[in-house]
Amino acid sequence: MIEVLNVCKDFGHPPTRVLSGINLRIADGDFVSIHGRSGSGKSTLLYILSTLDHPTQGEVVFDGKKVKDMNVRDLDCLRNTQIGFIFQFHYLLPELTAIENVLLPPRKSGQQEKFRHRAYELITQFGLSGHEHKFPGQLSGGQQQRVAIARALIMRPKYLFADEPTGNLDYQNGLMVLDILKEVNTTQGATVVLVTHERDFSSMAKREVILKDGCQTSFPGP
Ligand SMILES: Nc1ncnc2c1ncn2[C@@H]1O[C@H](COP(=O)(O)OP(=O)(O)OP(=O)(O)O)[C@@H](O)[C@H]1O
Ligand SMILES: [Mg+2]
Repeated sequence: MIEVLNVCKDFGHPPTRVLSGINLRIADGDFVSIHGRSGSGKSTLLYILSTLDHPTQGEVVFDGKKVKDMNVRDLDCLRNTQIGFIFQFHYLLPELTAIENVLLPPRKSGQQEKFRHRAYELITQFGLSGHEHKFPGQLSGGQQQRVAIARALIMRPKYLFADEPTGNLDYQNGLMVLDILKEVNTTQGATVVLVTHERDFSSMAKREVILKDGCQTSFPGP
């Protein structure tokens, strides 16, 4: 369970408020979308939810433990083993092949070989067989995004955060990505939080958070 309690975020000097009084409860196995116009605060909220940024006020709580009270080791452990993140711009490393990019998270802890089989499984599942030894520059945008998703899933995260994963894709490729996220949610039981400005994709989530100028307009409880 992730709880967001009265979270506010300011940027700059003098401070400008970009998130105001956000309250969410995201149960394990939930599929939540964060929807709103450009600049409404979606990415900022997702970064705070996923511990990559900190709120100016308020709390984020994972399974009863405040992120603010976690020490560096607890936070590293949470990020490396329980959280998968798909970024708005996918950040594959251009000098690594598709399979090497997928294996980056376990490589950090010297577990690359242990996860190699799973990496190939994900590559196959996402229709990327035959592309595993290509560099990102030799792949289409949709293929690159699927590599980025495989990389986010390799450690079997409990929480998957995705920031506009369909943003640079055509509708068909976008649907394929949504189907992958839905499957990860239903078959692996991962909690998925998806940021999207596309209504169609947002409405595929179990619940929607609508942001308007940094304020949530509604959010039904779990
Ligand atoms: N590091 C930062 N420093 C200052 N202002 C920032 C910073 N990050 C975001 N902002 C501002 O906060 C507001 C919300 O930005 P955010 O990136 O969360 O929007 P978004 O809803 O994700 O937009 P988009 O759909 O375009 O990705 C914007 O006005 C943005 O300019
Ligand atoms: Mg954004």
